[in-house]
Amino acid sequence: MPATVIVGAQWGDEGKGKIVDLLAQNSDVVCRYNGGPNAGHTIQVDGETFKLRHLPAGIVSEKECVIGAGCVVDPEELVAELDDLAGRGIAVDRVRLSGNAHVIMPWHRTIDQASERRLGKLRIGTTRRGIGPTYADKAFRVGIRVQDLFDPKILRQKIEVALAEKNLWLERVYGAEPLELEELAERCETCAQRLRPHIADTSLLVDRALREGKRILLEGAHGTLLDLDHGTYPFVTSSTTVAGGAAAGIGIGPTRIGAVVGVAKAYVTRVGEGPFPTEIEGPDQVRVRELGGEFGTVTGRERRCGWLDLVALRYATRVNGLTALALTKLDVLSAFDEVPVCLRYRLRDGTETDDFPAHQSDFHHCEPVYEVLPGWREPLEDCAELEDLPEAARRYVDFVEHMLDVEVSLVGTGADREQVLARGRGAALVR
Ligand code: GDP
Ligand code: IMO
Ligand code: MG
Repeated sequence: MPATVIVGAQWGDEGKGKIVDLLAQNSDVVCRYNGGPNAGHTIQVDGETFKLRHLPAGIVSEKECVIGAGCVVDPEELVAELDDLAGRGIAVDRVRLSGNAHVIMPWHRTIDQASERRLGKLRIGTTRRGIGPTYADKAFRVGIRVQDLFDPKILRQKIEVALAEKNLWLERVYGAEPLELEELAERCETCAQRLRPHIADTSLLVDRALREGKRILLEGAHGTLLDLDHGTYPFVTSSTTVAGGAAAGIGIGPTRIGAVVGVAKAYVTRVGEGPFPTEIEGPDQVRVRELGGEFGTVTGRERRCGWLDLVALRYATRVNGLTALALTKLDVLSAFDEVPVCLRYRLRDGTETDDFPAHQSDFHHCEPVYEVLPGWREPLEDCAELEDLPEAARRYVDFVEHMLDVEVSLVGTGADREQVLARGRGAALVR
């Protein structure tokens, strides 16, 4: 049975954690393929809330969970996350960590923070978790990998080589304190002891699981528009977030993937800087934020809120090859008499397009062209079937499906695991 990718179709925080947790009920192995503790995935089950950073959402139901080579890992944060879950009675012994994943070192965090400060108005608005500097060192081939943590000689050598340069940067460019080799090595080794039982050849593990007919979910962090190559550069993260990255991030061939489920909110949010055509002006922005609880899981920052952008979502459908869409947080829109949906962008020369602009300046200056759909003004929390949705809410879902030409297979009506309505292919996903 081929693997299923779950990918964020907007700028992150679409509710991927919740959807992966739900689909995990019907899966054997859940794998994260990109990113690190810049992700924040909130899962609510029976009134209990879990906030995950590194671990795939399958952990809440104690599935075998893989952190793939495409991820970056902050060892102290990962250990804290494992301990926290174990302390809450969740079995974490089936967490598998790739030795090829790169390690976020303290200098990466310091450089991320200091470089954002230095950029001032031009900052990206990163989560300041050291993500960009870690992926940069990986690409520059001077990174430290998880497997390096287990060899004291290699570890010290690599830290020493890194510090010779990083300390110059920290002190001379960023005015920060230099770091000390032995203290860093000891901190790494303490974490290594705790992580050792989790290290596995995760590419091999997933390949074998696929051969045995196990059901595999490949969970993406962040979202399509934060992808390093295909997102709104430079206001992006530093990993491959799109579905195509799942195969590379885990170490399987793309032929092993059979379905790609995009997750999108029924509106849009964005954290950090960068262009956002459908960002709501006026009091409705605050209403959406309050009703949707749109505050960052990682940084607590206010998320910027906008109306659903079908141009961007059509783009996400294309670059991920979506086979199904999960439309989350439809319940939040119950507060509005009318719900605008962006169908096209108007460019600076007055022409209109329904294709996502390939050039950054066109995107920065485009104006959304809206169609205003009727609202429904009824709570959705208690709907048990798609047919129970108010007529206007159903029309909203059908409209999205029609405009994207992708089945909306799952619809979110509340934060709890059970608050999802399935139809078509969605029924098979959650059965
Ligand atoms: P992720 O990063 O994509 O996993 O999303 P986050 O967890 O950062 O943000 C999504 C938030 O919306 C979380 O607090 C979820 O509990 C919540 N959520 C997910 N689906 C729904 C839904 O259908 N309705 C409502 N009201 N909340 C939802
Ligand atoms: P989940 O997985 C929302 C954003 C940051 C910033 C940019 C770069 O919870 O959906 P980084 O720290 O990655 O270098 O920051 O990317 N960003 C996210 N926004 N949800 C996320 O993850 C994000 N991960 C990164 O806000 O604008
Ligand atoms: Mg999130």
